[in-house]
Amino acid sequence: MILETLILQHILFAVPMTNTERDYHGYTPMDYDADSEADEVYQRCLSSLLTHAPIGRDDTVVDIGTGTGIVALELASKCDHVLGRDIYDEWLQYAREKAERRSIENVSFDHGSFREPNIEESVNVVVASYALYMAYDEGSEDELRTAIDGLVALNPRCIVVADKMRFGPTQTPNDYETLPPMGTVANLLAGAGFTLTDIEIITESVGVLIATR
Ligand SMILES: C[S@@+](CC[C@H](N)C(=O)[O-])C[C@H]1O[C@@H](n2cnc3c(N)ncnc32)[C@H](O)[C@@H]1O
Repeated sequence: MILETLILQHILFAVPMTNTERDYHGYTPMDYDADSEADEVYQRCLSSLLTHAPIGRDDTVVDIGTGTGIVALELASKCDHVLGRDIYDEWLQYAREKAERRSIENVSFDHGSFREPNIEESVNVVVASYALYMAYDEGSEDELRTAIDGLVALNPRCIVVADKMRFGPTQTPNDYETLPPMGTVANLLAGAGFTLTDIEIITESVGVLIATR
């Protein structure tokens, strides 16, 4: 999968990097958008998220790990407003500029992490697209649990995880990332008081889980 390889070869780990490191790697938000556009699995996952996420017109939606805002900007037409949060300010700025160019006014982008999303207002739905697996990759199940707990603390009625995770018994070997088993993600959501109400398997390593309180 093109996107997976590029992301891991470049900058998108949860550990903040210096500007020098970012410049060195040279993977820009424009590169990310182009790669996402060309990645058939990413597009299928996005389409599944948009089709199945139970988002209503009056909802406030948080897109955590929003990156360049691809998902947040798509969701904007479906709800009252979207709050995009990420740890990379440079990418947030790019996302803001995209919103401005497209005249989408009901989206805002600010710094925030899984643990500390930086949200004051009441939230209806939390969406995480291609983002939460990074917590697992970095710190295994405990880090993923902490990340999910941070989202649960927002008290949403629904959490949508459109992400990389293992649906098969074993991970297809690769040396650049470790994906959480789908059962682990499901159990952590269940432990936090959510029930899985929909599962869409895109490939053996990408899918959408919809968890409702
Ligand atoms: C592969 S990108 C996905 C971006 C976007 N959600 C999408 O679907 O295109 C993963 C994003 O997660 C963000 N991220 C990684 N660790 C994070 C954390 N602890 N808290 C918030 N965002 C994080 C990265 O900065 C990056 O923008």
